[in-house]
Amino acid sequence: MSEGSRIPGFYKLSLAARRQVVAERTELDVSELELALEQGGLDAATADKVVENVLGIYGLPFGVALNVRVNGVDRLVPMVVEEPSVIAAASNAARMARHAGGFRAEVVESLMIGQVQITEVEHPSAAVDRLEAAAGRLLELATKAVPNLVARGGGPRAIDVRDLGQKCVVLHVLVDCRDAMGANLVNTICEALGPITAEIAGGKLGLRILSNLCDRRRVHATCRIHALDLGRTRAEAIPESAPKADGGEPLDGLEVVDAIVSASRFAELDPYRAATHNKGIMNGIDAVVLATGNDFRAVEAGAHAYAARSGRYAPLAVWRRDGEDLVGELELPLALGTVGGTLRVHPAARLALKLLKLESADELAMVAASVGLASNLSALRALATEGIQRGHMSLHARSVAIAAGASGDDVELVAARIVTRGAITVEAAALALGELRATPPSRPS
Ligand code: MEV
Repeated sequence: MSEGSRIPGFYKLSLAARRQVVAERTELDVSELELALEQGGLDAATADKVVENVLGIYGLPFGVALNVRVNGVDRLVPMVVEEPSVIAAASNAARMARHAGGFRAEVVESLMIGQVQITEVEHPSAAVDRLEAAAGRLLELATKAVPNLVARGGGPRAIDVRDLGQKCVVLHVLVDCRDAMGANLVNTICEALGPITAEIAGGKLGLRILSNLCDRRRVHATCRIHALDLGRTRAEAIPESAPKADGGEPLDGLEVVDAIVSASRFAELDPYRAATHNKGIMNGIDAVVLATGNDFRAVEAGAHAYAARSGRYAPLAVWRRDGEDLVGELELPLALGTVGGTLRVHPAARLALKLLKLESADELAMVAASVGLASNLSALRALATEGIQRGHMSLHARSVAIAAGASGDDVELVAARIVTRGAITVEAAALALGELRATPPSRPS
């Protein structure tokens, strides 16, 4: 039967039953889930202390991706996202990847970058030499600025200096932020180093701030799927949880492998396609980042800057054929925290971390990257076979039914009717709802 992150039929359960199952799997009390997710996890009075000019709170769906296994460990992955099909698609692809052991992931270094800008430097190359020679002293000063981080085993690790031209020199300080995302720590260090850096360089002190292109804190994820697992019927290509219209024709698995590789090449050849390809990856990553109370703007800025690092915007994940297998690889900078920031005040973000059962921020980055790779796989499989719209619109049908006024059991009934008719519009849903109200079918018990 079901085990770990595999919960067949989860989507068919009521919301209360899903909470119960997840509580059992994660050994949490169901009341903890209920309390943490009440009102979107944040009350207005707390929100008022978090940002400015608060009028209220803004809710988004909080779900879990199933089937995810990373480095041999099953995880129920919380995702916060407004787009239908993202969670189902990630769960579907993770199910395919499970057959060959799931995702393998690693964090490549784990260092944040802080920048100190010095302008009006008359002799930049001599300034670079002097700053390099002073690296030991600068690191000592940086270390004194963050005693708590040092006590946790982190701290400044190295200094890099570059001449940017136009009399501008930049000093990078590389910092191990342990389980914090690290923006405040790095900015504190940069401000502590600013005056002495300017003095040594013989220039004027400019900006002191972290870089969101944190390419020294990268995560790498990979997975392997056999052609047979990609070549199920067209109907199965649609996420398990979508209302379905018909059975569909069988797909040839090797053709699907080749079509996905061709889709990957398209992204490698064309920045216009690469942007959309990467958007599909970020569908998964951002949803995990949001659920865990992390800074999605920082993650987005880093991902896209990294994608353009060669001077040409490129896909973050590529897919290749290996015998009868499809192999995917993803690498991107990912600065996530499991302590500090929003986590202190947001009960739903704290719950998200408990559901994940994480030991460290590095583990969170590996899970998020794996979900990104799963999202990419699902999108490419759909695009390379029958197109994205059927599955997407089938899931979207529920929102359309609600927009047309359906509630309770009627939502599924109206959604199924408009999917079967191939007309997923509010007008078609209103018509179906009118029909249902005129002659209600027997309700499922
Ligand atoms: C939609 O949210 C994401 C996709 O456009 C990604 C892609 O095209 O690869 C389907």
